[in-house]
Amino acid sequence: MRIYLTILLSICLLACADKKPQTQSEGTDTLQSEIQKTAKAIDGMVVSAHPLATKVGLKILKQGGNAYDAMVASQFALAVVYPRAGNIGGGGFFIARLNDGASLSLDFREKAPSKASKDMYLDQEGNVIPKASSYGHLAVGVPGTVAGLFEIYDRLGSFEKFEDLIRPAYELASNGFAISATEADRLNQYRPDFLEQNTTSNQFIETELWNEGDTLVQEDLARSLARIMKAGTKGFYEGKTAELIVKEMERANGLISLEDLKNYNPIWRTPLKGSFKEYDIISMPPSSSGGIALIQMLSMLENLKPEEHKFQSPLAINALTETMRIAYEDRANYLGDADFHPVPVDSLLNKAYLDKRLSAFSYGNAGRSNPNAHSGIRLEIESFETTHTSIVDSEGHAASLTTTLNSNYGSKILVGKGGFFLNNEMDDFSAKPGVANQYGLVGSEANAIAPNKRMLSSMTPTIIEKEDELYMILGTPGGSTIITSVLQVFLNTAIYNMDLNDAVQSGRIHHQWLPDMIMYEKGKMDSISLKELNDMGYKLVEKNTIAKVKAIQVLEDGTYYGVGDERNPDDHAEGINFN
Ligand code: DON
Repeated sequence: MRIYLTILLSICLLACADKKPQTQSEGTDTLQSEIQKTAKAIDGMVVSAHPLATKVGLKILKQGGNAYDAMVASQFALAVVYPRAGNIGGGGFFIARLNDGASLSLDFREKAPSKASKDMYLDQEGNVIPKASSYGHLAVGVPGTVAGLFEIYDRLGSFEKFEDLIRPAYELASNGFAISATEADRLNQYRPDFLEQNTTSNQFIETELWNEGDTLVQEDLARSLARIMKAGTKGFYEGKTAELIVKEMERANGLISLEDLKNYNPIWRTPLKGSFKEYDIISMPPSSSGGIALIQMLSMLENLKPEEHKFQSPLAINALTETMRIAYEDRANYLGDADFHPVPVDSLLNKAYLDKRLSAFSYGNAGRSNPNAHSGIRLEIESFETTHTSIVDSEGHAASLTTTLNSNYGSKILVGKGGFFLNNEMDDFSAKPGVANQYGLVGSEANAIAPNKRMLSSMTPTIIEKEDELYMILGTPGGSTIITSVLQVFLNTAIYNMDLNDAVQSGRIHHQWLPDMIMYEKGKMDSISLKELNDMGYKLVEKNTIAKVKAIQVLEDGTYYGVGDERNPDDHAEGINFN
């Protein structure tokens, strides 16, 4: 293997002759104690949910790759080292801002299988069957990740070969790596589910109790990665891997067919753009709700000026909450896959429309959500996982990517002999109008299930410009709380002038129209504010944590400032300086 790496290194040195000089190749072994939440550097920055994935991204940058090469490599690495959310069996969204200011967005969200149907999760009385959309084979959407990563490489990458961006992940899967304490806990927590959903023997079932530092070797996954290295997307969507996925589907009541896999296509979309003061926001259009809701909230907040009230003061939270309520009501009523159902994007972002939506607001008064539109809240008691990565390179190319299996380890199904988990993304559809999914989100016809349709997402990979220059790259996991968390981290820097680390680590709140309550983070909110909000008429619910933001800010002198979230012990920010 070492000889192979040396050859790869020499090939790359030749192939990348016009790129940055390669610095010494860096190993990918890391210790938990080496984790850093903040980093400053001038020639590149990677912030991801795992130190090994961050280091893979950095290694690619050091070998002369650009931010997009680094993003692709770190995503394959996350599929190995962060199996609860990193994936090749899920999907996601990607925003790029090139150093000439051009921006792009890629939708590689999963799609409903062609045999899916509108009422597939309803029983004979028309009631939603508990967990049918979120657990097991019927919950799985057609994965988009491998096609998405290839597309990013193909359009924006500078590496000679796609396979070289997968190789670090392949090595981590075949040689193994030491798992973190958090991963060990999660693997132990979900073992009963792995046993229930999987009949084929695999490393996740065989090991009874995981401990921090145990070596996780994933031979089946390494073989799946090797097939992608050899045949590109066909190594996943056709041939052996596709057959393994379909065999897995046929073992239970799964719907994905060979045709579904072969027909999967990621889509380049025009990124959604909005503004807030001197900032321009570049974010994700449908099939994510992230960009629309984020831009709506910022547009309303520009009018309400929460900065005239202290950070986390009752009136500042009052303004944030009421804009969140409006954006999430519109999300529920109007948003879905625009390729299937018309989404009135321009109207929803229209200033006059948003002024009208805000007309009932006055500072100091709590609004109300109409509960008639909501026929039941179903919040599963599990923590959710998704993962975001932010990268910038020495040339100023920026990349922001969020990907997910939806729940921790998705549907909990590990493709037999394929070695990777499949998503449970079908739960992001609205199984029945007004009935909440696992995040308590409700939806309408716009997000009803249809064959080959993409389920509505909250993922919000975002890039922000200040006076036409790159200012910030950010995103986060967190289900329905993703959009409001991206909003608050940006606002913390933009209106409260917080240092980025403070902006990320500060307490967050969340409101999503229904259920009608403000969620706030335990131990991170002022108790007097909470009491005053309660007096104002708000219902307040404490949560352990809300989202895990990974952000990069370009400081005034051009330094890249990367910050990972203390809410995820494994988040790791690291940069490079060539000299
Ligand atoms: O696409 C969505 O909105 C959800 N499937 C994201 C799930 C998520 O963020 C869970 N993690 N924390």
